[in-house]
Amino acid sequence: MGLVHLHNILRWVILILLVFSIIKSFNGWKQKKPFTPGDKKIWLFTMIAAHITLLIGLYQLLFGRYGIVSKGLPDGVNIMKDKFYRFFLVEHPTGMIIAIALITLGYGMAKKTVSDETKFRKACWYFTIALLVILATVPWPFRQIVGRPLFPGG
Ligand code: HEM
Repeated sequence: MGLVHLHNILRWVILILLVFSIIKSFNGWKQKKPFTPGDKKIWLFTMIAAHITLLIGLYQLLFGRYGIVSKGLPDGVNIMKDKFYRFFLVEHPTGMIIAIALITLGYGMAKKTVSDETKFRKACWYFTIALLVILATVPWPFRQIVGRPLFPGG
């Protein structure tokens, strides 16, 4: 199992943890629950999964099979005009870095000295926007040219 496979499967780990984080923060916010160590833990796991995926992604971007450093662009390819390269080397990394920054901000709410309601409310928004950005920038199989399998090697 290579790094691309790990990067592929971690997508599901992030999506599942993120959906849990959203549901828990939404319930905490709307039902005015107290913020617990359990809430913090699930936000933390979500952030860790995102950061591991980020590191693997950065490695792929620089040194992978389309790596900017290891391979460079094929002759005659203009990165912004070629759909494939623009997606994998620009759109996907940019979208995902934004999403991971939002997840990090969401986790950061756990440590802020604000009311529990504010923690839940802000984290819920950060995580929800992150989820939308991830859903928009994953190379889903139905996407033309850039589509990839739902599971490693699929
Ligand atoms: C939430 C974060 C991320 C998710 C869910 C995600 C998801 C994916 C998926 C599903 C693939 C296709 C894997 C396959 O072909 O089996 C992929 C490929 C790729 N990702 Fe990400 N990614 C994330 C973050 C990043 C970041 C931050 C970068 C770069 C900084 C990055 C760079 C790449 C590259 C370069 C590829 C193509 C690798 C190759 O085919 O050799 N990804 N990503």
